Amino acid sequence: MKANDPQIDDQGRLRHFLTISGLNQQLLTEILDTAESFAGVTEQTVKKVPLLRGKTIVNLFFEASTRTRTTFELAAKRLSADVLNINITQSSAAKGETLLDTLRNIEAMHVDMFIVRHADSGAAHFIASNVAPHTSVINAGDGRHSHPTQAMLDMFTIRRTKGPDFGRLRVAIVGDVMHSRVARSQIHALNVLNTGEVRIVAPKTLIPAYAESLGTRIFHDLRTGIQDADVIIMLRLQHERMKGALLPSEHEYYELFGLTEKKLASANPDAIVMHPGPINRGVEMDSEVADGPRSVILQQVSHGIAVRMAIMSMAMRSQQDGGE
Ligand code: CP
Repeated sequence: MKANDPQIDDQGRLRHFLTISGLNQQLLTEILDTAESFAGVTEQTVKKVPLLRGKTIVNLFFEASTRTRTTFELAAKRLSADVLNINITQSSAAKGETLLDTLRNIEAMHVDMFIVRHADSGAAHFIASNVAPHTSVINAGDGRHSHPTQAMLDMFTIRRTKGPDFGRLRVAIVGDVMHSRVARSQIHALNVLNTGEVRIVAPKTLIPAYAESLGTRIFHDLRTGIQDADVIIMLRLQHERMKGALLPSEHEYYELFGLTEKKLASANPDAIVMHPGPINRGVEMDSEVADGPRSVILQQVSHGIAVRMAIMSMAMRSQQDGGE
């Protein structure tokens, strides 16, 4: 792991969780194994363990979210923590209060952990570098930069359906990679876990400059890009982050890159189809595929609870044991 990584305490344990970049295979595997132990909790009649009893966790979401915010809240409650959801549109941030002032005021309530989503890349790092030493920060998505808990729940879903040997897998990530914090985090995680082949399938205008340097194979044709793939990860067209016209039309995009049952035939017969959500049906994929037998999209959401429980409990352990 990188020296002086702010995510890691002086004993090599997770203190914050901001990005996959710089983390090693041992730590990612520990997250996946810990999540596996929590997966059973969500199936019990009493879906709670007392690990974070007495701790206060604040959901600080400056950007819209359905899956991430609610699964973080459920995960924290299942760990017996007290959870505060700050409604940013009704908070003093809407009256011009700075991010740092909002942070200082909430911190004064003796908070142990912030879960942060923000439209600006680097926001979670900024908060992590300004919190008190006993406080952890988890990145719930920052701009185009990183969405590390989404990547980990995706790795958990792949491991549960395809087994632990990532080395034998071909994974194709399809769509708007350019604007996707999810794709960037997934590529880092797949590389750390030594995935056999990571492909990017997208129009030339939606391929980021970093793609080749991270060792991905690039395709501009969907059928060829998903040929013999074991895992297909579809991405949303992120219109809110596009500057200028990068695509002729959604209709043309669907014709070329939308996943249909017919196109899916070129992947391996037992290939799984993933999507971080929210899905634009009829743009990224047909409903027949999204709701079909190879789709694990709703399993990804369920797995988000166990994976987020794992990450929160690991970060809190660093604090409790007197980490940095
Ligand atoms: N995958 C994801 O981040 O979804 P939300 O925006 O609904 O949280």
